[in-house]
Amino acid sequence: MGAFPDLFGGVDVAAFGLIDDEASDFPIGVSSAVVQHLGGVSAIGVNCASCHLGEVGLPGKPPIRVVGMTSHFDAEAFFGAVTVAMLRSAEPNGMMRFLKHYVLAGGLGDVGAVEASVNRQIDKIDSVVRNNPFGSVGIKPGQLHKLDSAALAITPAEVIGGADLAPTVRALLRTFYNMRTALHLPAVLPSELPPPGGPGRNNAFGLLSQSLFGVAITHAPVKFGLVWNVAERGWVHWDGNTQQPIARNLAASLGLGAPIVDNRALLDLALVQRHTALTEMIRAPTYPRGWPLDTAAAKRAAAHYQRHCAVCHDVESKDPQARLHNPFVIGTDIRRARQFDRRQEALHDKLFRTLRISGYTQGEAPPFRATGKYWAVDLAGVWARSPYLHNGSVRTMWELLSPAKNRAQTFWRGTSVYDPQHMGFVDDGSFRFDVSVPGNSNAGHEYGADLADNERRDLIEYLKTL
Ligand code: HEC
Ligand code: HEC
Repeated sequence: MGAFPDLFGGVDVAAFGLIDDEASDFPIGVSSAVVQHLGGVSAIGVNCASCHLGEVGLPGKPPIRVVGMTSHFDAEAFFGAVTVAMLRSAEPNGMMRFLKHYVLAGGLGDVGAVEASVNRQIDKIDSVVRNNPFGSVGIKPGQLHKLDSAALAITPAEVIGGADLAPTVRALLRTFYNMRTALHLPAVLPSELPPPGGPGRNNAFGLLSQSLFGVAITHAPVKFGLVWNVAERGWVHWDGNTQQPIARNLAASLGLGAPIVDNRALLDLALVQRHTALTEMIRAPTYPRGWPLDTAAAKRAAAHYQRHCAVCHDVESKDPQARLHNPFVIGTDIRRARQFDRRQEALHDKLFRTLRISGYTQGEAPPFRATGKYWAVDLAGVWARSPYLHNGSVRTMWELLSPAKNRAQTFWRGTSVYDPQHMGFVDDGSFRFDVSVPGNSNAGHEYGADLADNERRDLIEYLKTL
């Protein structure tokens, strides 16, 4: 980060929309561990909370934290910056910059003396990088290098003392190779990148398909799922495509940096099981005490809710199709419903059938299915689901209950300040959401369009009580 501040917007990962954590050196959702395939040095990574823990507050008041709520983490920007930084270090100038910061980050040293020492070896470093820019020489695709931990642990004092830097540069290039392999990333970026997803969203299954199977599919950025009351859900995700929570979380881990070598996943199953058990305990957040709520209006609207919303959102049925609706009927953006098709179902099921994960055996039923539809979620905690719809394209409940033509064409995204009257985040933040970008349509789901303004207001008060 220090080496390429232009990519990282500073020297703090919190710049990517993560929440500062007073109790830790890292923001919420970032943790550090010693990772063997990254050279046995301390490495940071993101965990479930980077995407699934949010903050929300009334104007001028300190925000409250809500576990399971969509965060404002810009995951695509973060991983994009890490990837570009690795690629820059594959050319000599970039490597020189990186190396100086790397050595100095290892312990305080005399900046000038370290720089002078590194600069003296410039020709040697140049040739090491040119000979093997992507660290891929001498390794079969899909395998991981064994790394030279001693070379990676070089100190400023050793550098000033004239230590040979070639082994360190070699080890760094191989570390980047392992990192890319673990993230299932190609050495060379595709020439055309999709439009940025922004905070709180990513093209989850598109990225999984690309990285795990090398298959490019429809680009469909979606809001990070809301992780509460999941124990009651047979199937999860916006299209209800996954059952078996452990398989779901294994897929998330593989997508976020657990390597696969010779069909064997290198991950700690006990940790994934722990995440899974914790996840199943999260309940929907009740509307905060002391926030504006008109209980008389809520009472007036209860019947309206029963008539117009409960038919889809409160279905008590064991039928795994009961909550699924055809996107042509609902009218919302089609891409995510189309994205996970029969081919994806087969690829995912095969991966989980054949992948060896120490301690894991797959249940009888395959974990994945292609539905082509959207899931009508339970609306408990709906006040905290803004911006609404699977792609997060409608900022407030007021707009969701209005005809699509009255909804904003662009809005700002990324603030934690909340507007209780319209039930959603205020129009502010770092990212401009544009509904005309492919995947961002805010059309459809016009189930409150016929309401008069006072009825719409009442229904919002009722929804706060769910
Ligand atoms: C990079 C951000 C990110 C991280 C990290 C992440 N998720 Fe998610 N999660 C998502 C997205 C995006 C979806 C929605 C995917 C879809 O349906 O297409 C999702 C969906 C879910 C859902 C389904 C919710 C629903 O309503 O269907 C659960 C459960 C879940 N995640 C749990 C976890 C757990 C547990 C972890 C840690 C092991 C984790 N996630 C890590 C982004 C993330
Ligand atoms: C015909 C079935 C149907 C009816 C009726 C219906 N919905 Fe929905 N609703 C859905 C489906 C399906 C989705 C998912 C669509 C998507 O995300 O693209 C959805 C999505 C939502 C969401 C977005 C959830 C999120 O995480 O962003 C909210 C909020 C919602 N509905 C509220 C309501 C309310 C309030 C009513 C009554 C005025 C209502 N719905 C009526 C089927 C329905």
